[in-house]
Amino acid sequence: MAKIICRCEDLTEEEITDLIKQGIVTLDEIKRLSRAGMGHCQGRTCSKLIAQLISKHTGKPVSEIKYPLKRPPVKPVPFGILAKNK
Ligand code: FES
Repeated sequence: MAKIICRCEDLTEEEITDLIKQGIVTLDEIKRLSRAGMGHCQGRTCSKLIAQLISKHTGKPVSEIKYPLKRPPVKPVPFGILAKNK
């Protein structure tokens, strides 16, 4: 049974490990190539697991692995709400 690493994008440990073995060893690169971290949770669940996999396969400490920049989701706000906050 495949171990799911990114539940939002349905990515398995094997898929992420294949990328790492190809030399893709940053969270940003893995995110761009696989969509890991682009799901509904924005990587809250999978980023740590992917960092641990990178660490496991490269020997680099997890503390030295750089996390992708977090951007808050944009939500439309009705003008009425903004007008009330004057
Ligand atoms: S579990 Fe990976 S983006 Fe949500």
